[in-house]
Amino acid sequence: MKNVKLVISLIGKKEEQGMQSRFSLMKAKKKRKWPKIVATIILGLIVVTAVGWIGINDWNIDKSLRALGITVQEEKPEVELEKPTQVIEEAKDPVKEEPPIVEEPIEEVDRSGAKGYEGNETLPAEPTYIDGILIASKQYPLPATYAPGESKEARQAFEAMAAEARLSGYELVAFSTYRSFDYQQQLYNRYVSNDGVEAADRYSARPGYSEHQTGLAFDIGELHFEQHFARESFGETPAGQWVASNAHKYGFIMRFPNEKEKITGYMYEPWHFRYIGLDHAAKIYEANTTLEEYLGI
Ligand code: DAL
Ligand code: ZN
Repeated sequence: MKNVKLVISLIGKKEEQGMQSRFSLMKAKKKRKWPKIVATIILGLIVVTAVGWIGINDWNIDKSLRALGITVQEEKPEVELEKPTQVIEEAKDPVKEEPPIVEEPIEEVDRSGAKGYEGNETLPAEPTYIDGILIASKQYPLPATYAPGESKEARQAFEAMAAEARLSGYELVAFSTYRSFDYQQQLYNRYVSNDGVEAADRYSARPGYSEHQTGLAFDIGELHFEQHFARESFGETPAGQWVASNAHKYGFIMRFPNEKEKITGYMYEPWHFRYIGLDHAAKIYEANTTLEEYLGI
């Protein structure tokens, strides 16, 4: 009996020890959970603060970093390529704009008789259509409020043309399409401060006078050949030549052909195409003429 009691008491002790060790284990486990909880809370706070900070900085990461005094490596100014649309999505603030900023010195040309803004300084209340064709030029400005956005029809035509060009090995991009009046103003002002009014007027429309404001003008280039974006050199590239010879099949015309400055009001722009529809585009291409001559304006 004595022995039995001893055995029972030993078992009891063992169990007690076992209970104790399980209890301490649980305690230890509980203790070890705390650091994880604290770390999770801190991480959560950091994430919430960071997102909030970026939010109050217009969701712009560069701006958020700069506001903290962290300098970010300056990116090359976006080719203002009249904003690479696809590539450069139509800017809410128009992307990226243009370029030219004519690299070559602008040679003196006889501009006597060149069509200019004279007499057309006031913006109209309505856009002008001639023979059903919307015109935007130095003679036919648009209302400042005219803001149709990029033309869906022109975009579709461009995509069809790009698909065809791809079969010949050219990846076309529209690096600038629709531009608002305000954006055109910013661009023009920049060109004027860079090159002066006279030079800027030869390659950039003043706000209210740009075909880009119609949503029908597409500045076309070749992907990975940004050095030719908005440069006359695009006209000498195989892709530029392909577009020049095929754009009319998709309803586009080269709006500012070479040596037609006196008629169109602008220097040669082998990248600027205007969507005008298949029928008119084919006729203008076949006649090797300009929109002004075609319409007799
Ligand atoms: N570069 C063309 C003329 C425009 O600014 O609309
Ligand atoms: Zn253009």
